[in-house]
Amino acid sequence: MKYPKEYLDEIKTRLKVSNIVSKTVNLKKRGKEFIGLSPFKTEKTPSFTVNDEKGFYHCFSTSEHGNIFDFVMKTQNLKFGEAVKYLANIAGMRPYTFSKQDIEREKNWQTYSAIYKKYVEFCHSNLLKNQNLSFAKEYLKNRNLSKEEVEVFKIGFVEKNTNIFEELKKNYNEKFLIETGLFYFDDKKNIYVERFRDRIIFPINNISGDPIALGGRIIEDKNYLAKYINSPETTFFKKGSNLYNLDRARKFSNKIDHIYLVEGYMDVIGLNKNGIENAVANLGTSLTEKQIIILNQFFEDIIICFDGDESGYKAALRAAENSIKELQPEKQISFLFLPNKEDPDSFVNKNGKSYFVNFTKENKISIHQFIFEHYKKQTENNPSSMAIFEKRLREIASTIKDKFIKKYVLEYFLDRISSLTPHTNYKNKKFFTKTAKSLKSTQKHFNDTKSVTQIEIKEFSFLYLILNNLEVFQKNIYLIEKIKLFTDENRLIFEAILSKLKENEKFTINDLQIDAQLIEKIFKFASIKHILNMNKHDHSKIFDLLEEIIRDLKNYELELRIEELESKFSKDLNENTFNEIRELKKLQNLN
Ligand code: UTP
Ligand code: MN
Repeated sequence: MKYPKEYLDEIKTRLKVSNIVSKTVNLKKRGKEFIGLSPFKTEKTPSFTVNDEKGFYHCFSTSEHGNIFDFVMKTQNLKFGEAVKYLANIAGMRPYTFSKQDIEREKNWQTYSAIYKKYVEFCHSNLLKNQNLSFAKEYLKNRNLSKEEVEVFKIGFVEKNTNIFEELKKNYNEKFLIETGLFYFDDKKNIYVERFRDRIIFPINNISGDPIALGGRIIEDKNYLAKYINSPETTFFKKGSNLYNLDRARKFSNKIDHIYLVEGYMDVIGLNKNGIENAVANLGTSLTEKQIIILNQFFEDIIICFDGDESGYKAALRAAENSIKELQPEKQISFLFLPNKEDPDSFVNKNGKSYFVNFTKENKISIHQFIFEHYKKQTENNPSSMAIFEKRLREIASTIKDKFIKKYVLEYFLDRISSLTPHTNYKNKKFFTKTAKSLKSTQKHFNDTKSVTQIEIKEFSFLYLILNNLEVFQKNIYLIEKIKLFTDENRLIFEAILSKLKENEKFTINDLQIDAQLIEKIFKFASIKHILNMNKHDHSKIFDLLEEIIRDLKNYELELRIEELESKFSKDLNENTFNEIRELKKLQNLN
């Protein structure tokens, strides 16, 4: 749903940037501008400026800039729509309503949300105040929870025979009450009963902090009752799109770049109690791609830490195979395996925060490494088993949506397979010299040690593609002749190739008179070599690869231009420069 420009402009005219910013940043007036300490960085000298006339803010130390919507989105981690609602409210405007159905849905949501709020509030204060419930409090105490955790997480208890259904019926119609999933009709007794009766309840909130569902645990383990139950799915609660504690954890994403994803409510609470607040749990179902996408919006590294038992391991493997599809260049997904029989709750309670944090640093492995190690363990040293192994890894790599990540993960798999099969691959130099910690750090490590930059690798791929398909490109020279390379050496090689191609006579690499060492370097580092070798005579694949590389190179050019403009902008705060940066960033996203 897109907001009309007039509505957004109206908000902008009613609200000064300095007004909104000064709610969180202490601003001082200086000339036409305001100045203060950057909210994006800890600093002692102010480098953050606000210009009401131009309608934006700029941070000199992080080069963040934008308008009021950007500001609240960034500082409060809101989505655009949420930022609009929030600011419209401050501006004294009505929330923008869309269609009839939207209005209807909004009304239903208000009712649903109000019922949940009342229910949670009631069960929470009942647990705290009701003397009859001391056994439940005792239980929580034995599980290491103090009043503070009970309050922060609004933990409650549902008694067997409350009259809350009757109470709520005074204000809400029965149909709504049933739709919340808090009650269901017992055919035998012919009455409505509470789904969570006799259970400790953990409210599950949406991203804005409103309760939308519950998890409930029995106090005494009885084998005929499920230890935990959740609210059923409703219009406003979809298990696969929500995460327990996301509303609180996301607030830490300004300061912390990683999030722990654990199995249980008690794991989240145990970690919190020990000072690790960046933790969420999936809700008793397997991890969905949607949940990964949500977490990626806020955090760079998702650390999946399930229970240290067989079912935890199986869940982790399933999570890995599901979530690798969503892996993005700037993001990481890692796995942390705990010692046998421990879960995050028991482990952190035994060992404390700093041990847990160090344990994470030393033991987490990246998703592609985990998948590789898992399948390697299942593989025996015989052709059939090895073939199944390679096939499976290729299949997994092929599910990755991001083209570049797909390329590098496949490269990683194949290279590690190569190192297991030294005879068939004796010519291959090892690509990864050390066990890789993560894809990003792998690339970095790889770059550092060989002093080859990312852009050089792309250029090598470009040259490699051409050198291996001279005839194809002789016929299609128009596809490549305008391409700009960035490193001097590669540019010279490319020029030599181009002029030879233009002579329109058959030739080979040897006729090019390029230094053999340079050629060797190209062949060694071109990241596309495996993919190309698999598709040697497939012209359309060759053109696909070319297109991909050209896009990468263009993006790099954009990046350079943006950097240049940003440094210019931080000096002159000129609106045209700002707009140009915006346009370029849009282009960058399109690519
Ligand atoms: P666990 O059995 O590992 O729970 O299930 P836990 O957090 O260690 O439980 P405690 O410490 O005994 O209280 C992990 C998660 O799996 C879901 C719940 O979401 C739970 O938090 N689950 C578990 C169910 O949905 N139903 C069950 O019967 C058990
Ligand atoms: Mn557990």
